[in-house]
Amino acid sequence: MTSTAPSERWLDLAPGFTRTAGDLGPDLASWRGHPAGQQPQWPDPDRLAAVTAQLAQLPPLVFAGECDLLTERLAAVANGEAFVLQGGDCAETFAGSTASAIRAKLQTLLQMAVVLTYGASVPVVKIGRMAGQFAKPRSRPTEVRDGVELPAYRGDAVNGFEFSARARTPDPDRLLRAYHSSAVTLNLCRAFTTGGYADLHQVHAWNQDFVADSPAGQRYERLAGEIDRALSFMRACGADPAELRAVELYSSHEALLLDYEHGLTRADSRTGRAYDTSAHFLWIGERTRALDGAHVAFARSVSNPVGVKIGPDVTPAELLALIGALNPARQPGRLTLITRIGAGRVRDVLPGLVRAVADDGAPVAWVCDPMHGNTFEAPSGHKTRRFDDVLAELRAFFDVHRAARTHPGGIHIEFTGDNVTECVGGSHEIIADDLHQRYETACDPRLNRGQALDLAFTVAESYRRP
Ligand code: PEP
Ligand code: CO
Repeated sequence: MTSTAPSERWLDLAPGFTRTAGDLGPDLASWRGHPAGQQPQWPDPDRLAAVTAQLAQLPPLVFAGECDLLTERLAAVANGEAFVLQGGDCAETFAGSTASAIRAKLQTLLQMAVVLTYGASVPVVKIGRMAGQFAKPRSRPTEVRDGVELPAYRGDAVNGFEFSARARTPDPDRLLRAYHSSAVTLNLCRAFTTGGYADLHQVHAWNQDFVADSPAGQRYERLAGEIDRALSFMRACGADPAELRAVELYSSHEALLLDYEHGLTRADSRTGRAYDTSAHFLWIGERTRALDGAHVAFARSVSNPVGVKIGPDVTPAELLALIGALNPARQPGRLTLITRIGAGRVRDVLPGLVRAVADDGAPVAWVCDPMHGNTFEAPSGHKTRRFDDVLAELRAFFDVHRAARTHPGGIHIEFTGDNVTECVGGSHEIIADDLHQRYETACDPRLNRGQALDLAFTVAESYRRP
């Protein structure tokens, strides 16, 4: 890890970016020659073209140097020296991009990171599923209610959640709103994480509005007390390292809407290489990871660190082909595999995949998404997840990697900073009958703050176990 304070190092990484994807020649548009799944049926192609032309003129949201630094951090994960914490909403919404909601998510992420760093004694690479997670792949293109069929909600970047023909019609102007919402979210995150709020001396403050009635909050409070004592000890010894005063936080989302991602792709003037400047880290979803598909072609053309979701049906041969396509140079940190297999199958499926990659020798960071293989419908009709299934998949992930002597490199979760009731279980014991109380997600059920902290404690224990 660098000895320079993160905030100082980030300032050295200023751009620039000169050329946009349109000027960069045919390679960057090569994805257009491949089938692209999960793209909206925009009713007005001219408006889409006008919007993407505008996107191409807008400032980058992230810098190439920051993306490269994240690649370095993820290389440490691939080498077994660091751990990824990636999380946030399933689907961010424009209405939900408020200061208090963003702050609550960040607080939760910071608290989880502290639990992991302290509890597992490992550097934690923090990546928000934030500032750009506005587009969703769907299992079905339409939704039927009371005999009325309308296009499915595909995220605020595409259409509205409300079930009306008007709201559900894809509107390209929403891509511009997604850009601006991403910008304000990222701006606030940067201010919080480098402007003193993420200072480790604030470890109690992050918990303030939470501790009283929550078992997870009380457990956190005890850990924060230990950290406080360690900080006082360090101060008494004359040590006050700058690393404790700011946090390096990266943004990420699923690179789903290729017109949007392409519109924000720029050449780095230092190297001429292309970066998708909509986020530091982009991943390809389970439904769009076809080897000859447009999403893989797009990801190949940019130099950001990228991830790919791996579901239960991928074969070792398919996985090796994907790795070859996405990281032909075998650069450590470039590729993260995010497995989302399901608690019921993970112990059968994951060992073969891990073995195949280890035998091949490709450097990858292995991250566990214990959410997307464990979704089911409650009797009330709510889409939910059992907290115990989530933990079971995580435990299996650690066991499998331990048996294979590979590195369990991190977690990818859906959570929110609010006290929602979307997943059942946890130390506050939400039951199926409670789900209606605060079910607010625009897409998949998220862990609430207490469940997210409970999970961090369990992960820290599993990681530490010899
Ligand atoms: C998601 O991360 O919200 C998602 C849709 O995941 P997956 O592609 O793994 O199904
Ligand atoms: Co989801």
